[in-house]
Amino acid sequence: MNTERSAELYARSSESLACGVSSGFRAKVSDPPLFFERAEGPYFFDVDGNKLLDYTLAWGPLIVGSNHPHLNEAVSVAVRKSYTLGAQHEGEIALAEKIVSLVPGVDQVIFSSTGSEVVQTSIRLARAKTGRQAVIKFEGHYHGWMNNILVNYRPDLDAGSPEAPPTMGGTGGQPEEEYTHTRVLPWNRLDLLEAELAKGDVAAVIMEPLNANSGSVEPADGFLKGAVDACQEHGTISIFDEVITGFRLALGGAREYFDVIPDLSLYAKAVAGGFSLAVIGGKREMFDPLREGTTMHGGTYNGSTINLAAGLATLEVLSESPDVYDRMNGHGQAIRETFEQEAADRGITLCTTGAGTVFNVHPGTAEKPTDYRGYAAVDLGSYSAFRQAVLDAGVQLLPDGRWYIGATHGDVELGIAQEGIRNAIDHLKA
Ligand SMILES: Cc1ncc(COP(=O)(O)O)c(C=O)c1O
Repeated sequence: MNTERSAELYARSSESLACGVSSGFRAKVSDPPLFFERAEGPYFFDVDGNKLLDYTLAWGPLIVGSNHPHLNEAVSVAVRKSYTLGAQHEGEIALAEKIVSLVPGVDQVIFSSTGSEVVQTSIRLARAKTGRQAVIKFEGHYHGWMNNILVNYRPDLDAGSPEAPPTMGGTGGQPEEEYTHTRVLPWNRLDLLEAELAKGDVAAVIMEPLNANSGSVEPADGFLKGAVDACQEHGTISIFDEVITGFRLALGGAREYFDVIPDLSLYAKAVAGGFSLAVIGGKREMFDPLREGTTMHGGTYNGSTINLAAGLATLEVLSESPDVYDRMNGHGQAIRETFEQEAADRGITLCTTGAGTVFNVHPGTAEKPTDYRGYAAVDLGSYSAFRQAVLDAGVQLLPDGRWYIGATHGDVELGIAQEGIRNAIDHLKA
């Protein structure tokens, strides 16, 4: 694939933009990082004239594809009315009512701009509500880049023991004092979680209900329900970080898909189809600390008219198209089956994990990882060569084995993806 112009632009951007890219995760996606001119439906068009079928969905948000007429119309109407108001408007009520109508167990919401922000606000709400400090998170789960929570996302697995990992910062410049109240456990171990909660000093337990950031590892049978029940028993607030799973696994997100209702759920990415919006949803009483003024929630762009209009339009598209989740899930299933069938036919070992529209391919193992350590043991070396071959054939994938499916991935795209897999899968031979 010709990437000459991208390489030139990368060299140029590295002069004025530190690292040449705008997020630390992006530099590793391809060499050189690709520069794009536009996107349309499920396709990205780069500066070298390549048309790429996209299964990255911008790391999740583009659930209804790009250049969608309903989002375009909603956003252009909104932009003519205001950029942002820093004040109240009916768009807030419309979107809040829409989310409350779609997500089980959500009575009220608050709005922010990014996933990292709502993670922080939810922890603050939990602390204000319980009067406790400690927060439990799980190995390999990602909850944004802030100091208190960017711990044990890609930890040193030799430190401590698998059952009691020490809390470890994830990047330079992170003061240890900022994560002294954050405790880490292996996921899917209800016994260990119950023992920690029994200490009676835990404000919140936060988790990705499907660990999409580390291999789309699935929750063990009964784990989510057991964790939420144990939190309730010990006066701890349960938080599902649905920044990826929200409006993706189902309209009601992981709450609906797994039939488990935590105290709070956090949404971003798919909720606004590519615009910067994040939401906390939960039972009415979860927001008492805000009403009572014992804690605060701020943000210049909270309730931004344009982003909320995009949010409402996205949820209208998703909720008014009756078979959209069946179609998206079917597409994901067909891709997983293609991997599994082709691998079996050629004597290649692999497995897949995930749910519907977000899943991972794990080369070199037939055993589905059940926690972060299982995922970390998967050797993604062969996947890089596979991914490059697929990219050369015009299909763009994330580097970590993860695939995202959206509403504009149709039969034509399935055919392209399947052909790409068939032609490149021999790279996954051990
Ligand atoms: C599960 C999860 N939580 C939180 C975040 C942080 O969201 P943001 O990047 O919008 O700050 C992410 C980002 O990928 C995420 O995947």
